Amino acid sequence: MADVTIRPSKNGPYIVEGPVDLFDTEGNKITVDKPRIALCRCGASSNKPFCDGTHSQIGFQAAEAINPASAE
Ligand code: FES
Repeated sequence: MADVTIRPSKNGPYIVEGPVDLFDTEGNKITVDKPRIALCRCGASSNKPFCDGTHSQIGFQAAEAINPASAE
């Protein structure tokens, strides 16, 4: 298994497990001191890039499947 895994939760955030280096749009490193983080996928979090649970309040509906061809 890879050192880092990213799994979408149903109608919720991406769950990232493993050691990662996370940066903001300015290139500043965001300190991550947890082995597991949740990254917002709905776009409505007030604490981006992290999920703050807002997805459940806005009724976010994620795509049912990931298209592997989109990764190319
Ligand atoms: S996925 Fe949780 S707030 Fe966006």
